[in-house]
Amino acid sequence: MPPRPFVPMPRGTTWIRPPAVPRDRLPGDLAGDAAFPVEPVQISGLAGRVRIAAIGDFHARLDREFVFGPALRQVASQADLLLVAGDLTDNGRLEEFEMVAERLAGVDVPVVTVLGNHDRRCLRRVAMRRTLESAGVILLDGESTMFLVPVAGTGAQGTTPAARIQIVGIGGYGGGFWPEETGSGPPLHRATQAFAVRARREAARLEATLAGATDEVDARIVLMHYSPTSSTLGREPLVKYWMLGNIELARVIDRFDVDLVVHGHAHLGNPAGQTIGGTPVRNVAAHVIGRPVIYALGDTAGSGHVEPAMSVRTAG
Ligand SMILES: [Fe+2]
Ligand SMILES: [Fe+2]
Repeated sequence: MPPRPFVPMPRGTTWIRPPAVPRDRLPGDLAGDAAFPVEPVQISGLAGRVRIAAIGDFHARLDREFVFGPALRQVASQADLLLVAGDLTDNGRLEEFEMVAERLAGVDVPVVTVLGNHDRRCLRRVAMRRTLESAGVILLDGESTMFLVPVAGTGAQGTTPAARIQIVGIGGYGGGFWPEETGSGPPLHRATQAFAVRARREAARLEATLAGATDEVDARIVLMHYSPTSSTLGREPLVKYWMLGNIELARVIDRFDVDLVVHGHAHLGNPAGQTIGGTPVRNVAAHVIGRPVIYALGDTAGSGHVEPAMSVRTAG
């Protein structure tokens, strides 16, 4: 067999090993009884399918059972990657991070996460990051990472082709969605002004991260905790919008080539929306989707319009 051609990849690139059984053709007995919703996402020119599982807002507490463990392990048998959209913990306590890290260590695919507002309560940031990383969890805070996911077919010189999937991760912040999406702005007081300052700073960090993520990719996904649009806020009350995300994040995202945005935080939201510029946005807060959802990235052109696979659930 001819040698593999050398393809330089950015630092931190993770090769994902091919599954023993093709993940999109798992027989029922191997898949267990977990039927996860699968939503096709159109990515032009992507040969084969890449399946990305996502969920957020575990809000793990020591006095409450962590109920997501079995579903996380099961979804890993059906997906290539797992994205967790922040609020892993309820109080940001190191012990809560240790509990989540232990459960995520049992997930058999790479796990990528960002910090939610509850996680940011953690005062021991270095220990928290070390706890997650020791469990193999990749924490992105204004950073990007690349995965090479084997896809079906044959590449150049008989090699196994791989899809280049880039994840850009940042927590984000509140600030509101005015004037484009909500008309008037939030009430002006010290808290909202502080939010606006922090929101602009987070948007600038996102812009810098996207501007630096120049590698050639097949798909680029932005993972964040806060929402870049009000279109995924569902039944959240209007007066809370300024705490749930901000439109400056969308303005940044729409200036770059982003295929999908995944966020959490809006527990009373709805699963599917888009930025003002039309970039698809998905709210994966556990309170909304109930169990992990799988996004099947691929070239589905010609297969017609595809509706999101999820339905809105009310928050518990
Ligand atoms: Fe949350
Ligand atoms: Fe949150």
